[in-house]
Amino acid sequence: MLKDLEILERETAQLVINTPEELEQFRLTYLSSKGKLSQLMDAFRILPPEEKRSSGKPLNELKAKLEDFFKERKAALSADTSNDLTIDTTLPVGARVPGSAHPIKIVESTLCDIFYSLGFDIADGPEIEDDWHNFGALNFAEDHPARDMQDTFFIGEKVLRTHTSSVQIREMEKRKPPIRLVMPGRVYRNEAISSRSNCFFHQIEGLYIDKGVSFADLKQTLYYFVQQFFGEGTKVRFRSSYFPFTEPSAEMDIWAGTDTEENRRLTKGTGWLEVLGCGMVHPNVLKSCNIDPEEYQGFAFGLGIDRITLLKYGIGDIRDLFHNDIRLLSQFRGL
Ligand code: DAH
Repeated sequence: MLKDLEILERETAQLVINTPEELEQFRLTYLSSKGKLSQLMDAFRILPPEEKRSSGKPLNELKAKLEDFFKERKAALSADTSNDLTIDTTLPVGARVPGSAHPIKIVESTLCDIFYSLGFDIADGPEIEDDWHNFGALNFAEDHPARDMQDTFFIGEKVLRTHTSSVQIREMEKRKPPIRLVMPGRVYRNEAISSRSNCFFHQIEGLYIDKGVSFADLKQTLYYFVQQFFGEGTKVRFRSSYFPFTEPSAEMDIWAGTDTEENRRLTKGTGWLEVLGCGMVHPNVLKSCNIDPEEYQGFAFGLGIDRITLLKYGIGDIRDLFHNDIRLLSQFRGL
């Protein structure tokens, strides 16, 4: 008996079953009622008791093994789709090309990280705005010529926001001081398109409202951001300016240098690139948002993300950022 078991074990151990026909043949040969395993079972039944004791266990083990093998092959063959003509499993697997974040998004999130590390939270607002949030609450009087500073796209009664300063208003209406926020987003102006300006671009607005905030806090915050973003020792300069929503107001330039063709073009040959407007929030703006200007002061700034992206990566033309040319975009893979 043990000898027969051994023969059957060796015979079946070498079997390879790859088709349903081979599987059926296996079933008939070994597992069916007239198969080789059944024959051994029959022989076992009439063995003397001592022999039964020694061969019972190996017989049961072989039976279980053959049944498991049958089940496993049956499952594998029914899951196999190699006969399904809609899938060609012989085709090579194509190499996966990873995508990349757009340079504007890379810069935007770097800026958010820098200001977040200083305790600024992040907020955003709608791109289609009403006149109040884009102009009125920011102290642009109804017929004030300052409205012409920003050539506006109108949509019926509404406007495409011309700056992210509108989000300042929305947040001040909602929150109580102290407020410390940066607000990135896309803005729109009906401007002539050139290598330096586009009809849509990106800004990040900053706002800090608390007791005892001064212009020195504003300068130091911006100075810190520039050193973090462009590296230690980067030169900046402030020029006084005018915005209806800040008093005093300033603009900040960064020294880009005149070494490269791109920088000369970007800076109109001066080496200085204007990157942001800023100032102390005008008392009228605070009043529009129900914040008492006697108790609270604050600073605000609006930074052009596209410009500093050009500067950071040595891109000479703002329009290149929006052609979606894979040769440019793929250089930002992994950043
Ligand atoms: N909103 C201005 C613009 O788009 C930029 C600006 C200037 C934002 C001064 C500010 C600010 O928050 O305080 O030209």
